[in-house]
Amino acid sequence: MAYENIQVAIEEGIALITISREKQLNALNKATLLELSRALDELAPRAKPEGDVRALIVTGAGEKSFVAGADIGEMASMTPVEGLEFAKLGHGLFAKLEALPIVTIAAVNGFALGGGCELAISFDLIYASERARFGQPEVNLGIIPGFGGTQRLARLLGKQRAKELIFTGELIDARRALEIGLATGVVAPEELIAHARRVAKTIASRGPLAIAQAKRAIEWGADGDLRASNELEQQSFALLFGSEDQKEGMRAFLEKRPASFKGR
Ligand code: CAA
Repeated sequence: MAYENIQVAIEEGIALITISREKQLNALNKATLLELSRALDELAPRAKPEGDVRALIVTGAGEKSFVAGADIGEMASMTPVEGLEFAKLGHGLFAKLEALPIVTIAAVNGFALGGGCELAISFDLIYASERARFGQPEVNLGIIPGFGGTQRLARLLGKQRAKELIFTGELIDARRALEIGLATGVVAPEELIAHARRVAKTIASRGPLAIAQAKRAIEWGADGDLRASNELEQQSFALLFGSEDQKEGMRAFLEKRPASFKGR
């Protein structure tokens, strides 16, 4: 399927989506959000545990920016109703990302601001180039984060650090992002995609059902109380004993050979 604002490439079981509005620093307008959403829908059947796509990496086109936020030109004249529709579009997309049963990696090659930072924190892992800069500068525009920043950032960093970023609107560099737990790792710009691919490949070689269940337990569990979430973990753990992958994984260990997982 053809896209105007993104590029999608699938290679060796790893999907790479590049957000390609370089002139606007890859800002997210409605059309781009819709294309991303469509791309995830198209990927979903192949991203099932038995499917052939085991990881998703998303990056920004060019050297300067991952995503510089939601498109300010498009937002400038929005009414409250349109603002709500726009926020729902972003939230829907990011929820789809979180629900994918494969590992998702943001390869943050430059500015990850506003909706771009919110996009990044919807991924399982965030690798940042040394050139990356993160921030939630919405208050400079008289608005607040609208794609989940007030919620996901506070859960990821704690309320105080989230408030510091959101209230000041100031940008932080990749090292600081790593220090506060906003980035998973920092690598040289020319190494970024190769590093993301390496991690993706490692995870893709593990039991796909196990990755899917671990992701589900972490995602759902993080929102729940400890007792219910521990119960969820036990159910997920138990479920895996009905899979061929569990038999194969344990047999392979005992036979001292690498496991060959089928995702079933
Ligand atoms: N939306 C639309 N266009 C954008 C954009 C955005 N978020 N960010 C950058 N651009 C455009 C600029 O308007 C400019 O276009 P022209 O060449 O046509 O003038 C082009 O990208 C290059 O940008 P700059 O000339 O500004 O580049 P710079 O290197 O001087 O500055 C920057 C880079 C610091 C990222 C600066 O562009 C900037 O501050 N951008 C806005 C960042 C921002 O406020 N993001 C949050 C948006 S609100 C949001 O995301 C709400 C939400 O939570 C859903």
